[in-house]
Amino acid sequence: MKQERANFATTMGIILATAGSAVGLGNVWRFPYMTGQNGGATFIVIYLACVLILGIPCMISEFIVGRNGASNSARAYKKIGAPFIGVLGLFTGILITSYYAVVSGWCLQYIYASVAGQLRGDANYITQYFTEFSTSAWLPVFWTVAILVMSHLIIRRGVEKGIEHASKLLMPTLFILLLVIVVASCLLPGAWNGIEFMLKPDFTKVSGGLFLDALGQSFYSLSIGMGCLCTYASYYSRKTNLLNSAVQISAVDSLVAILAGLMIFPAAFSVGVNPGSGPSLVFITLPNVFQQAFGSIPVLGTLIATLFYALLSLAALTSLISLHETSTAFLHEEMHASRDTAALVVTVITSVIGALCSLSLGAVDSLSVAGKSLFDIFDFVTGQIFLPVGGMLTCLYLGWRVPKQLVRDEFTNCGTVWARCRWPFLIFLFLIRIVSPLCILAIFLHQMGVI
Ligand code: TRP
Repeated sequence: MKQERANFATTMGIILATAGSAVGLGNVWRFPYMTGQNGGATFIVIYLACVLILGIPCMISEFIVGRNGASNSARAYKKIGAPFIGVLGLFTGILITSYYAVVSGWCLQYIYASVAGQLRGDANYITQYFTEFSTSAWLPVFWTVAILVMSHLIIRRGVEKGIEHASKLLMPTLFILLLVIVVASCLLPGAWNGIEFMLKPDFTKVSGGLFLDALGQSFYSLSIGMGCLCTYASYYSRKTNLLNSAVQISAVDSLVAILAGLMIFPAAFSVGVNPGSGPSLVFITLPNVFQQAFGSIPVLGTLIATLFYALLSLAALTSLISLHETSTAFLHEEMHASRDTAALVVTVITSVIGALCSLSLGAVDSLSVAGKSLFDIFDFVTGQIFLPVGGMLTCLYLGWRVPKQLVRDEFTNCGTVWARCRWPFLIFLFLIRIVSPLCILAIFLHQMGVI
């Protein structure tokens, strides 16, 4: 590893920073709305299967490419002979960063709104509040740019000081608060229907897009497929056990997603919000939970709501940082720009695209194609297509083109871990060579109606 490259300082820091990238709006905003649109428990079962069989191997593959490359993702992929995967990743990254900033911005607005007491009223009022806010022109754009500027400032402070320290404190706090809200939500009247919706699979209801949605969501939530994990892994130490890290990060990430579901669905059923209502789901059910569950002590309701949106914004921020860092590291190392300039270029580009995404939700009609807003198109195309394609190509290259010894050395840290037990490596190889590519291909073909 080159001398001048920064590294994460501790093993715990590594796990937390990568988990900080993984845990974010994907878990708390996207997972519940995808689950709601796909009928609940069945989706969750297939989602977890995707994490286990496809997500973990793809994550380890990306770690291997990154740590072996010890550089930004474009160069790391070039080193294994697949530069186009790096380039596709950068393109995907810019798109995700942009619309991700829009939703992160909504969280910032909700911090303000809960402090200002704007989120009090019945379910209809809350729905209307969200619709009016998200389709207005300036306010959401302001917040989008604001959160991008925040991530810009942290990125400028560098890998260790900025990213690692932020993750260490925020992650555990968010987790505890989630638990509190889950309990509050499950105690609402009629909450049981929501719990049942999440836990009782009904395989007769498997719909067409379910597999692709579950696959895309698992990659999205774990930050797989665009070089983000690859960039973080380039800061890992030679001693990091990649398999263990991948398993731990996936476990934490899935747990947070399930908790987010247990927070949203009981409440949605309790107040009669349709669980399939899409991207607005989280923003219209949660204010109801805070009001109803803490109705007798409104101050407590406001406090918990504010704290929750603050932590969610911070979770979004740690993910946004990882997205931002991927492009920044590329510009910095490949285009010979200073870190500051590189970060600034990324911030400006994503602010412009982010603003367009936000405006496409209602303020400017011409930003829609075939009735779908730019926002929805970016969400679908990146999550459901580019990420799985990026993950599949990484597996194929690592499995078939890269010398096996190199892959083994990275997996076993040159024979210092998994030395006596060969099975984990053999299973990993089998998964990335055959199982993952075939499953991903099958899901694409299924979606296109071929099988
Ligand atoms: N995984 C993050 C979340 O769940 C979002 C994210 C960060 C991401 N980096 C990524 C998604 C890279 C895809 C690729 O909120």
